[in-house]
Amino acid sequence: MRRTIVSPSIMTADFLNLGQQVRMVAESGAPWLHLDVMDGVFVPNISFGPKVISDISKATDLFLDVHLMVTEPLRLLDAFADAGADALTVHLEACSDVAATLREIRRRSLKAGLSIKPATPADSIVPYLDLVDIVLVMSVEPGFGGQSFMPASLDKVRRIAQLREARDFIIHIDGGIGTKNIEAVRLAGADAVVTGSSFFNSPDPKAFVRLMEGA
Ligand code: DX5
Ligand code: ZN
Repeated sequence: MRRTIVSPSIMTADFLNLGQQVRMVAESGAPWLHLDVMDGVFVPNISFGPKVISDISKATDLFLDVHLMVTEPLRLLDAFADAGADALTVHLEACSDVAATLREIRRRSLKAGLSIKPATPADSIVPYLDLVDIVLVMSVEPGFGGQSFMPASLDKVRRIAQLREARDFIIHIDGGIGTKNIEAVRLAGADAVVTGSSFFNSPDPKAFVRLMEGA
């Protein structure tokens, strides 16, 4: 099996020591950094915006995996592209024109991601399969770190792996993932995993990442 991409989410990091926390992610060997942007409208929480991402981008070579939990992300794409994002993932439920939003992300030479909430069926992504580089399955209700993994999301990952056929997008999964369920997540077909609290609560981040990567 291929090595799983580990994307630690700084949502559960210590924001007072963000620079040190980002360095810790880089030193752990994880290739991606997951950045949860929340607007208090699409989700009932507010996190951080482009300024924080821009400062992080100047300080690290990690692949910046930006998860936009915001209503109508189209209006904010320039701000996050300028901030140094490598991938912009938008929510299908948050866009009035999903295809246009994905095209606009690619037009900025960024990887385009499409995310679906737990209640959104896997097949709702079918019209957009040729426009995505990443499909992000939410395995918790978006809004907060530290929630319990929803096992039904594994069926969704399996279904999306079937839908992929000859395409080569990355299947990414977000919420409640750690050493206890990584094997099931990998077997279902996920290529990349977000790890928020499980990463930042780990006593040995390097060993944690190696374990999560499998292979
Ligand atoms: C939830 C966020 C997640 C979250 C992951 O809305 O999208 O990225 O921070 O944190 P854990 O791994 O703790 O569930
Ligand atoms: Zn996320």
